[in-house]
Amino acid sequence: MKLSRILSNQNGVSRQQANRAIASGLVRVDGEVCTNAAREVSRFQGVVVGDKVIKRALPAHYLMLNKPAGYLSATWDPVHPTVMELLPPEIRADLHIAGRLDRASTGLMILTNDGLWSRRLTEPEIKLPKVYRVSTLRPIEPHTAQRFEEGIWFAYEGLTTSPATLEQLGPTDARVTILEGRYHQVKRMFHAVGNQVTSLHRERIGEITLPRDLAPGAWRSLEPDEVQSVPTGRATVFGKAGRLAVT
Ligand code: URA
Repeated sequence: MKLSRILSNQNGVSRQQANRAIASGLVRVDGEVCTNAAREVSRFQGVVVGDKVIKRALPAHYLMLNKPAGYLSATWDPVHPTVMELLPPEIRADLHIAGRLDRASTGLMILTNDGLWSRRLTEPEIKLPKVYRVSTLRPIEPHTAQRFEEGIWFAYEGLTTSPATLEQLGPTDARVTILEGRYHQVKRMFHAVGNQVTSLHRERIGEITLPRDLAPGAWRSLEPDEVQSVPTGRATVFGKAGRLAVT
C-alpha cells in the first residue's frame, strides 16, 4: 500500500495532511525517513510518524525443508501427511509453499509468508534454474540431452519448455536443470522421450542449495544472502491474475 494511504487510513487524517507530514520528513519507513508519498510499503515494513507507530512490520519468514517422500505439498489433506506437519504449529499458519514437489519427490522445498518473493522464485519467466537428481526406469538414451536442450512440446499448455540440461551420471541416473517449474515438468519431459522417472530429488533452486546435512523432514531458516539471491526483477503485481512484471 502507498505510504500516503497508510497515513490517511488513520482516523481523522486527510490525504493532504498525510502528504504534508511525509514531505516534512516526519515519517520513517523501517527506521529511515521517507519523503516519497507514493512509496509502496509492504506488510513486512513498519511506519512511524514522529514517535507514534502507525504500522508494525510483520516478521517475514523464509524457510527451507528437506521434503521426505510420501508428504503432500499442500497445507492440509484428509488422507496424506503434508509438508506443513513437519513445521512447528506457531510458524506454519501464515506460510505457503514456493514451488511444489510431487508426493513421491524429495528434497529442497521453500516456504515463506512473502508472496512477492515466492513469485519471483517460481515464475517461469524469471527462469531460475531448478536442479534435480533423477533416476529412470529405462537407460537414458543418448539423444535425451539434446531433446531436453531443444525443448519439449507440452500440448496441454501449448508451449515448448525452455532449454534444459541433462548431465548423465549413470545408465539410469542424471542431473537435470530446468528453468521453469511446470506441472510434473521433469516427469513429463522424460515421458516425452519414452522413459519414466522412478525417483526425483530437488537439490537446488537458483542460488539456494539443499545442504547435505539437512536430514529428510528437517528444516531451517534461509540465510539473508539466500533470501537476497532471488533476483528482484520489477516486483510489480498487476491485474487480477497477479502476474509479475519481469525486467
Ligand atoms: N518435476 C516433476 O515432475 N515433479 C516434481 O515434483 C518436480 C518437478
